[in-house]
Amino acid sequence: MAYKYYKDNRTYIEALKRTGDLIEITDEVDWDLEMGAIVRRVCEKKAPAVFFKKIKDYPGFTAFGAPIATYRRLAVSFGLDPETSIPDISKEYLKRTMGEPIKPKILDKKDAPCKEVVITGDKVNLFDLPAPMVHDGDGGRYIGTWHFVVAKDYDTDFVNWGMYRQMVYDEKTMVGPVLAFSDMGKMFYNKYVPRNIPMPFATVINPDPLSAIASCAPSPISEAEFTGMLMGEPVELVKCETCDLYVPAHAEIIIEGVVLPNVTLEEAPFGEYTGYRTSPRDKRTVYRVTAITMRKDPIMAISNMGVPTDEGQLLRSFSLGLEMERMLKDQGIPVTGVFMLPESTHHFVVVGVKPIYANIATQIGQLVFGSKLGPWFHMVMVVDDKTDIYNKDEIIHALCTKCHPSRGIRIEEHGVGTPLNPFASPEERLYGRAPKVVFDCLFPPEWPTSMVPIKVSFDNVYPKDIQEKVLSNWKRYGFKD
Ligand SMILES: Cc1cc2nc3c(=O)[nH]c(=O)nc-3n(C[C@H](O)[C@H](O)[C@H](O)COP(=O)(O)O)c2cc1C
Repeated sequence: MAYKYYKDNRTYIEALKRTGDLIEITDEVDWDLEMGAIVRRVCEKKAPAVFFKKIKDYPGFTAFGAPIATYRRLAVSFGLDPETSIPDISKEYLKRTMGEPIKPKILDKKDAPCKEVVITGDKVNLFDLPAPMVHDGDGGRYIGTWHFVVAKDYDTDFVNWGMYRQMVYDEKTMVGPVLAFSDMGKMFYNKYVPRNIPMPFATVINPDPLSAIASCAPSPISEAEFTGMLMGEPVELVKCETCDLYVPAHAEIIIEGVVLPNVTLEEAPFGEYTGYRTSPRDKRTVYRVTAITMRKDPIMAISNMGVPTDEGQLLRSFSLGLEMERMLKDQGIPVTGVFMLPESTHHFVVVGVKPIYANIATQIGQLVFGSKLGPWFHMVMVVDDKTDIYNKDEIIHALCTKCHPSRGIRIEEHGVGTPLNPFASPEERLYGRAPKVVFDCLFPPEWPTSMVPIKVSFDNVYPKDIQEKVLSNWKRYGFKD
C-alpha cells in the first residue's frame, strides 16, 4: 500500500506553500553568497524553507533552500500534518521501514523528467549550473549540498546512495571528502582504488524528499529499496546516459561521471554541520563529469551547513537515533526510546531504558559506539523509562542529579571519530580518532528501595484523584496550558 508522499520536489514545494512552510523570493538573488546568507539565516531562525525565483546570471533556473531543516518540514515530507510531534514522526519512520525492502521500478527515458535536457561530451560545463558560493571562506562553489551520490559495488549488485558534499573544481571536475568508513568510501577505497579502476557515479541534485531522507539514513538496506519502503511503493528510476547506474526519474538535475582512483585535488574549507569550519584545504576525492541531464526549468537546491539547525543535523539526528533504537531492540535491550538532539549536531543521544540490571548503560554505550553508527557521535546519555527523552528540561535535570560525577561517567579513549570534530586535536582529526563518553543517569538497581531518592514532581508525588481534579479544573482556574 502506497503511503502519502511527494514524488518530486515540485509537489513537495507546493505542499510546503499550503502549510505556510515556504517563502518565495521574487527579487533577483546572487548565487555568490547572497543565496547562502538567506538560507543560513533561515536555518538559525528555524524559518520557512525558501524558493528563489530569479538567480543572477542564470535565467531559466530557480533554487530551493533549507528543504527539510525543521521537524514541521520533516512531517510534511512524510505526508503528515506539519504539527505532528517528533515521537509520532519517529513512529511513522519505524513503521514504514519495518517490512520487506521494495525494489525500484525502471522508467523509460521518455517518461523521466530528469532527461528533458541531455548534455554530454564537450558541451558539459558545470559552470552552466547555478552552484552557490554557500559561505564566505568556502574553498569554492558547492554544487552538492542537497543531493546524493549513486555508486555501485565492484563485486556485487549493491548500490549505495549517500550525501557527500561536492565542490566545483573546473568545468568538468568536482571534488569532495569521501570518508573511509562511509558506504561509498568502503566501496571505493577497498575495491576500485586497489584495482586502479574509475568508479562510475551519478550525483542526484534536488531529489524528492523521501529519497533524500533515505540517502542520509545509516540503513543497511540499499537506499533505493529503503526509499521504496518509505513510499510504500517502488521509487521510479531511470538509466544514466554514460554509465550503468540508475537515478530517480523525477529529480531536478543529474551529473554523471567517474570517481578517479589514485588522483586527488584540493578541496575545502567549507562551513560544516558541526557549526564550524574545521577541515583545512586538502587533497580529496575527484569526480570527473561525463554528462549532465536535467529538467527544462531545473530547480537547484541548497542546504547550508552551520550552527543548528540544518538538514545535516536534523535528518542525521533523526535517522541515526531511530536506527540506533532498532539496533538496540534487535539486541534485546529493553529500550523505551532513543532521541538524538539535532542541536547537538548529532553528537549527543539520549537513550531511555528499563533499568533491569546493573551497568546496562555501559552495555548500551558499547553497542552503539561499536556499531556502524558509532563514528558520527561521541556522547550517550542513558535515562530510565520515566524520563521524557524529548524534554530538554528533564534531560538536564536527570544529568545533574542522577549521573555520579566519577562512577557515572564512562570514557572510552580510543574511539573512531570523524575528521570534522571541532574538539579534537589536529592530529586526532587527521586520523579520525575520538574518545567516547557514556553518562549513566540510572540509579543503581542494587540500591535498597528505601534508599532510592523519590522524584518530587506533579506526576510522581500526588494521588491520581488529586492530579485528575487539578488537571480537569486547570483552564477554569485561569491557566492557559
Ligand atoms: C546535507 C548533508 C551533507 C552531508 N555531507 C557529507 C559529506 O560531505 N561527507 C560525508 O561523508 N557525509 C556527509 N553527510 C552524511 C552522510 O550523508 C551520511 O553519512 C550518509 O548516511 C552517508 O551514507 P552511507 O551511510 O551510505 O555512507 C551529509 C549529510 C547531509 C544531510
